[in-house]
Amino acid sequence: MSAVWNLAGPAPATFPRLEGSTDVDVAIIGGGLTGLATALILCDAGERVAVIESHTVGSGSSGGSTGNLYSTVSNGLAGIRKKWDQDTVNKVVALRRQALDDIQRNVERLAGHCHFERRPLHFCIQSNVDHYGKTLEEEYEVSVAAGLQAEIVDRPHGLGMSLRRVLRIENQAQYNPLEYCYGLAKAVQHEGGLIFEHSPVAEVDAAEGKVTTADGAVVRAGQVVFATHTPKGISMLQAEMEVYREHGIAAPLNSTDGEFPRGIFWTLDGFHSVRSYEHEGQPYIVVVGQKHETGHGDLGEGHFEELGEFARSHFDVAAVSHRWSAQQYQSADLLPYVGRSAHDNVYVATGYSADGLVWSEVAAQVISHQILGRKDIDGGLLNPRRFTPGKSAKAWLEANTKVAKHLSTDRFTVEKMDDLHRVEAGEGKVLKIGGDSYAVYRSPEGELKTLSPICPHMKCMVHWNSADKSWDCPCHGSRFDVEGEVLEGPAYKPLEKRSPKL
Ligand code: FES
Repeated sequence: MSAVWNLAGPAPATFPRLEGSTDVDVAIIGGGLTGLATALILCDAGERVAVIESHTVGSGSSGGSTGNLYSTVSNGLAGIRKKWDQDTVNKVVALRRQALDDIQRNVERLAGHCHFERRPLHFCIQSNVDHYGKTLEEEYEVSVAAGLQAEIVDRPHGLGMSLRRVLRIENQAQYNPLEYCYGLAKAVQHEGGLIFEHSPVAEVDAAEGKVTTADGAVVRAGQVVFATHTPKGISMLQAEMEVYREHGIAAPLNSTDGEFPRGIFWTLDGFHSVRSYEHEGQPYIVVVGQKHETGHGDLGEGHFEELGEFARSHFDVAAVSHRWSAQQYQSADLLPYVGRSAHDNVYVATGYSADGLVWSEVAAQVISHQILGRKDIDGGLLNPRRFTPGKSAKAWLEANTKVAKHLSTDRFTVEKMDDLHRVEAGEGKVLKIGGDSYAVYRSPEGELKTLSPICPHMKCMVHWNSADKSWDCPCHGSRFDVEGEVLEGPAYKPLEKRSPKL
């Protein structure tokens, strides 16, 4: 199954594979929202741009998001104030509010409505637990201080869910992120930008400004932008981030007459994100949650079953019609890393946490302003070169202790098995066979696929993800399909094909 956003139909345009050699001013790796929005601004400014996408436009996290757009952040502004201060919160809100306005302007320019609607956002409490009430009040106070139009409502009605208390923030928005991606791609093409699909990048030579794909095609550019959700290859930033997966479902409402949630709803005590989406007059309930670290806590179908159960317990819904998953990178100091990297001609955008739809537009503005030599719009707040040990040391230490633990212990806990018939159809396992380790998957048709389980990024061992049928690396979030091909994350190379001698 795929994300509910695909109801809008297939991509209106497809783009060629990169071949031969191409010279441009700016090479952008990644055809999601960050890459396409950056490309559009640069094309408008007269730059020659090439966007190089490993799969298809919008097929990564951009098309697997919630479609929620907001000036606040999903983990709460109070957390940022605790680590930084109210002034930083104010800057974050100002940048995100401006980005939301920019997205609305783009939607109008693209002449497609992309299901864009201004809607309120609700932080919700369903239980009587005091702790959540205090969290809500603190969040209210920080939000108002940052200039957001917020109020607390007790026992609200008409929202389609039974809620005890709600912090409501006006004038946020929702859209279909995939439709928006498609619209941006068309606009980039219209403005003379080049877009290439099915062109995975295998190497970037920053000094030469040379980007080479797995097929050996080359783009030469003065500036290179990594719009890949996390930088490809080895980067210090990967040591600063934790990687999570989150899951989503959508189900059609049986009755279209009743109340259903119009707006963004986040339940603080259940950690669910709820919204509705309408397609050809049929409303759907969308529930996102079940967040867990990538490569850990895999419940397989259980993630989707829990979300479906939540939807059924609050709404009169039919069977789940869509389900999907997406990845998040959370920085240690709670702000994303956006802008010029350690190499002056290379730019990165990462650490968006669950708030990437708006951060992607902020990143597009920050990076394009830097490339064009315009005034810095973030005042260095998101600078990837920043050093904030007081704010990030604890999270940094925890993340890197985990990586060290995976590197040192995962190899010694692999199950031994010489009889591969015990791997069932649809199942994946890392197994020790005759002294070597293998990532073993049996397809529903019974075909066995065996790979090296060693992640080519920095040699951690991959884990099976039965919810998404992929091999996921617990260290920095590289993911591979059952053939070993890179789905996402920092790894450039696929998992090595390896067959056991039985
Ligand atoms: Fe870094 Fe696998 S993603 S070792």
